[in-house]
Amino acid sequence: LANGLGITPPMGWNSWNHFNCKIDEKTIKETADALVSTGLAKLGYQYVNIDDCWAELSRDRKGNLVAKKSTFPSGIKSLADYVHSKGLKLGIYSDAGYFTCSKTMPGSLGHEEQDAKTFASWGVDYLKYDNCYNDGSKPTVRYPVMSRALMKTGHPIFFSLCEWGELHPALWGAKVGNSWRTTGDIMDNWESMMSRADMNEVYADFARPGGWNDPDMLEIGNGGMTKHEYIVHFSIWAISKAPLLIGCDARNATKETMKILSNKEVIAVNQDPLGVQAKKVWLKGDLEVWAGPLSGHRTAVVLVNRGLRHNRITAHWKDIGISPNKVVEARDLWKHKTLKTRFMDNLTATMASHSCKMYVLTPIS
Ligand code: GLA
Repeated sequence: LANGLGITPPMGWNSWNHFNCKIDEKTIKETADALVSTGLAKLGYQYVNIDDCWAELSRDRKGNLVAKKSTFPSGIKSLADYVHSKGLKLGIYSDAGYFTCSKTMPGSLGHEEQDAKTFASWGVDYLKYDNCYNDGSKPTVRYPVMSRALMKTGHPIFFSLCEWGELHPALWGAKVGNSWRTTGDIMDNWESMMSRADMNEVYADFARPGGWNDPDMLEIGNGGMTKHEYIVHFSIWAISKAPLLIGCDARNATKETMKILSNKEVIAVNQDPLGVQAKKVWLKGDLEVWAGPLSGHRTAVVLVNRGLRHNRITAHWKDIGISPNKVVEARDLWKHKTLKTRFMDNLTATMASHSCKMYVLTPIS
């Protein structure tokens, strides 16, 4: 969407994966504080996004959405002011239907201009727009209405389409929004996470600065996967130029969770100015090579072992898009080490079950 936003994939936090409907203004404020105090904000995690369940079920007499009095008594404007005072941005959630998915609050269908104005007047910076309880018309009919309404406010609002990949949003999303979900909801387990990654990969050619494929939010820190599975999760999201929206309780993140989420070198791959989504360029059974170009003629590579046994994977230059005689230097982004060996034609690594290696390859001379 030509609103100047999402030039690199958005980074931040969202309430849904950890809190579901159990949110209130205290939690949101404390999360903003935590993003700053942990250093995550400095690493680029700037959006603090409220998901479903923030509003009263009924609009006011003028038809405006109202924040839920029992949980957001100070209102969204004051919350936005607080989040902005921390140098962060506030995101909110609505739905291109009559209700949001929780059915605890109204959707924006038929109220697009009014709600867009409300969000803009509160200083909201990001809108996630869901697809529940709609009128049966196509997303290509309903989503552009909100997109135009947001543009009309004159306030830059990142527009995140969430129609779950129903109508191949990658094919039309770039004109309408800044990101589009390509899949149904992620769950905090290996199979769900890897299947989101697979479904999202199909649309790699459609990602570009200003419009990104979205395989759903991060589950890192929610406890359902092993450390190595979460490292695969973060590596694949990063190389796929996916939104990096933290989905755990950022106030109580463990050291292990923090170490994954704050890997600067992996974040830099995600935020690389070239903005090209990696693809699965080779696979054999459970073994896969994902690769994509970076700025400066560099290449990002993730080798993933999806199997149950220790295994060895080789990335060949012909598959990852490096010319055959190029000699490269390999940086291991999880070890934070540049390998002593220089590589020509291919690179091989061994790894345990459900784990990966992530490299940036830089041609020498
Ligand atoms: C849908 C979305 C989720 C979340 C919930 C909230 O399922 O896909 O990401 O926003 O609704 O109810």
